[in-house]
Amino acid sequence: MTSPPLADLAAQKAELLGTISSLPTLDALREAEPAIVGKRSILAALQKSLGSLEPDERRNAGALLQEARREVETAFAQRREMLSRSARAELLEADRLDLGDVVVSAVRVPPSQGHPNLVATTQRELEDVFVGMGFTVADGPEVESDWYNFEALNIPPAHPARGLWDTFYVELGEPETVVLRTHTSPTQIHLMEAAVANGTLPIHSVMPGRCYRRDTPDASHLPTFHQIEGLVVDRGISFADLAGVIETFTRAYFGADIASRLRPGYFPFTEPSAEFEITCTICRGDGCRTCSQTGWLELGGSGMLDPAVLDAVGIDGEQWSGFAFGFGIDRCAQMRHQIGDMRALIENDTRFLRQFT
Ligand code: PHE
Repeated sequence: MTSPPLADLAAQKAELLGTISSLPTLDALREAEPAIVGKRSILAALQKSLGSLEPDERRNAGALLQEARREVETAFAQRREMLSRSARAELLEADRLDLGDVVVSAVRVPPSQGHPNLVATTQRELEDVFVGMGFTVADGPEVESDWYNFEALNIPPAHPARGLWDTFYVELGEPETVVLRTHTSPTQIHLMEAAVANGTLPIHSVMPGRCYRRDTPDASHLPTFHQIEGLVVDRGISFADLAGVIETFTRAYFGADIASRLRPGYFPFTEPSAEFEITCTICRGDGCRTCSQTGWLELGGSGMLDPAVLDAVGIDGEQWSGFAFGFGIDRCAQMRHQIGDMRALIENDTRFLRQFT
């Protein structure tokens, strides 16, 4: 027999379960919580009233009440779970980008894109400067015969000057000795030969490309490096034209505060010859460790075409004259960007390379 305080327990439980299942939102649920499962709930009040019962009855009624509470609490928790699940679904639906049939499911990380190495960029910039000055750009082979790399450039076999360009010889057997070119100067010979054959003199060209020397890599040398060669063959060309071209190039590429100077030098294929130097880009001419306190940095070589070279390609030196110059592209990049160690250009450390996008 049910004792008086719990007489309506079944009906009260049914009412609570009905209320729970009709709670429409999480807010409503939160508001109703104290009245359903909290201290102010009808079940909590009934719990208190059990104190007035005899111990036997109390045990019996307590168990019934306990079971009713568990049922109500479970129903409440399930309702909360259901309401929060649908609230989440509503939120996602509201956030969905409306692209018709397309549903955005994840953020797409754009693929990382590479960029040309600093040497390639520098080569292009140098070409641009010379094209702006009226030069055309020409190409030549990286593997040359002894004739193009040395002999036509007035460097006979066993000439001590070959020591300057000690190189990698390619063993192909007789009759020709083949070398990886040590400078871009052999491309001068190809260009002059072609111009003579096709009757297309004059020549105003630059010739960039890769070169090889038997050098040990250090802060300012790489055994595989790049040069850009310049060649002008025309009527009435003088040393002043050479100096003017070098100076115009230097200011255009390095900036107005960097000047050029030509210092007497020696190359077998030019006469007179000059080392081509620019204001030190580190100290701007004041003198520092990089320029050995001179304020100047050597960039390359230059000079008037030697009559022996014109003879070798069959150009009449009475009618035509010209000059040539050649300097390192890697060295240019190093000086312009003040790179302490040239080896950084080929080490493929992206932390270095990324700075030159
Ligand atoms: N070929 C020379 C070198 O590599 C540079 C040079 C080019 C000098 C053209 C004079 C004229 O050292």
